[in-house]
Amino acid sequence: MTNNLLEIRDLHKSYGAVEVLKGVDCTMRQGDVVSIIGSSGSGKTTMLRCINMLEEFEGGTISIDGQAIGYEIVNGQRRRKSEREIARQRALTGMAFQQFNLFPHMSAVGNVMLGLVKVKKIGRDEARAVAETWLDRVGLRERAEHYPGQLSGGQQQRVAIARAIAMNPKLMLFDEVTSALDPELVNEVLQVIKNLAQDGMSMLLVTHEMRFAYEVSNRVIFMNQGRIGEEGNPREMFHKPGTERLAEFLKSSTFN
Ligand SMILES: Nc1ncnc2c1ncn2[C@@H]1O[C@H](COP(=O)(O)OP(=O)(O)OP(=O)(O)O)[C@@H](O)[C@H]1O
Ligand SMILES: [Mg+2]
Repeated sequence: MTNNLLEIRDLHKSYGAVEVLKGVDCTMRQGDVVSIIGSSGSGKTTMLRCINMLEEFEGGTISIDGQAIGYEIVNGQRRRKSEREIARQRALTGMAFQQFNLFPHMSAVGNVMLGLVKVKKIGRDEARAVAETWLDRVGLRERAEHYPGQLSGGQQQRVAIARAIAMNPKLMLFDEVTSALDPELVNEVLQVIKNLAQDGMSMLLVTHEMRFAYEVSNRVIFMNQGRIGEEGNPREMFHKPGTERLAEFLKSSTFN
């Protein structure tokens, strides 16, 4: 048994003949905030997608809270778990993406309630109360009845984050949630994530916002060509990069 929240061992993932993850290891404890940085194409999104089984992977193991994700060994053979089991495991994580993917025909509160009612089978009144609490936490109490088309990009992204967190995941995965936003809307979303981090939410986040990674994370992972190039606490990583690769990457990014 382990008391790690997330444990990734020797993760391998290919798309066809192209190996994209070449043996990734990563562990997180409850309450950790880990940022993943690295060049385009280094495998950051793929890693997150493997964690919640949006992608299959051929080698290595991922476990969350001690549960092996996606695959089991039966009579010495590795095989995919049942879809029902995978769906259950997927609920251990919540995910927010660059594209918020809200349902346009539902209000903000309707979007946040949906999974609570349909997946968690919570009654509508209680689901609404939970949804309103989370919308309040992301600063959108006044916007609960607005439709996505009536909200700014930053507000829509905050609804999407509330929707994921309302499901009570053990680990939140964020993939460049500010990349599609106008610059003036980035901070309101980053502030919401910072507040959640301060409240003890465990999170693994891919970001191009180096200043944010520096301020919010207790560990930073630098992905380089499908491997972890370097990892450590943000101060060491940003001020004393241990590899030439990371130093170059930081030079080319905007950390001021
Ligand atoms: N569905 C797919 N089919 C084939 N190749 C893919 C697929 N998704 C990603 N790849 C390839 O896998 C590699 C890693 O992609 P990934 O999206 O994980 O990178 P990333 O680090 O998230 O990049 P970015 O910073 O641009 O988002 C890239 O070379 C990409 O072209
Ligand atoms: Mg990506």
